[in-house]
Amino acid sequence: MAMFLAVRLGKPLLLEGEPGVGKTAAAKALSLALDTPLIRLQCYEGLTAGEALYEWNYQRQLLAIRLAEARHEKLADADLFTAEFLQERPILRAVRHSGRTPPVLLIDEIDRADDEFEALLFEFLGEAAVTVPELGTFTALRPPVVVLTSNRSRDLHDALRRRCLYHWIEFPAPARAAEIVRRSVPGAAEPLIRSATEFVGRVRGLELDKAPGLAETIDWVSALSALGVADLTDAAVVSTLGTIAKTPDDLAAVVADARTAVVADAAVVADAAREETT
Ligand SMILES: Nc1ncnc2c1ncn2[C@@H]1O[C@H](COP(=O)(O)OP(=O)(O)O)[C@@H](O)[C@H]1O
Ligand SMILES: [Mg+2]
Repeated sequence: MAMFLAVRLGKPLLLEGEPGVGKTAAAKALSLALDTPLIRLQCYEGLTAGEALYEWNYQRQLLAIRLAEARHEKLADADLFTAEFLQERPILRAVRHSGRTPPVLLIDEIDRADDEFEALLFEFLGEAAVTVPELGTFTALRPPVVVLTSNRSRDLHDALRRRCLYHWIEFPAPARAAEIVRRSVPGAAEPLIRSATEFVGRVRGLELDKAPGLAETIDWVSALSALGVADLTDAAVVSTLGTIAKTPDDLAAVVADARTAVVADAAVVADAAREETT
């Protein structure tokens, strides 16, 4: 619904949720569903307007100056600040996109950029426009579909939130997680998918440094599946836990939990086998 409304109302969508719940995947899926290009801006500390909006191509400007000097021609400032010397970065590229359908612009992990960077986005988010002082304002003919994501590593400005629709992606319940894993790892055995997603759901309740997300669950089931493991009773399970636990402490906690899970799973498998024979 959030994505449908973002497209319908032409409003940016802010997606928040823990790492690995599928925020980036959601923007990719949206561009696939709309059959339109995905333009991606990965945010990081120190990200500047020159990398996000546009930049002047200094090398080409210098070359033009040299060339003019060699030809004894006069160059005015206005000759150097033309569209020819403008380098589009993701946001300006999205605004000037001239395809049949507007692109999806993913501004990924906005919380990683410095908070001053958000202010640079206000004009674009509010008016689908980018102003280049030397050239004027570029306004999108068909505004791009904008998806911003945040892992909530810091709070975002109210002014940014106000310009966006909002959706919080919750870590899915085991049954839903199983559906997602089933689609992502088509070859995996059904009992493996079910017990693995349940196991991850439970492990997420432990006090971990980094609770495993869906990405980790998919990796784990892929690993077990590649090893030909069909359920959690297999001894190989413990040695594959590096796919879901990423620190020594987490690994120890998850391994301890897995040992009891392996026993419990063996009991379930044995029960099922007994039921089948009777
Ligand atoms: N709801 C989901 N549906 C399908 N795939 C998902 C879902 N959530 C996560 N994934 C998969 O898990 C991985 C990590 O998801 P990602 O979008 O990178 O998470 P986030 O951006 O929230 O940190 C991706 O490979 C993605 O395909
Ligand atoms: Mg992401």
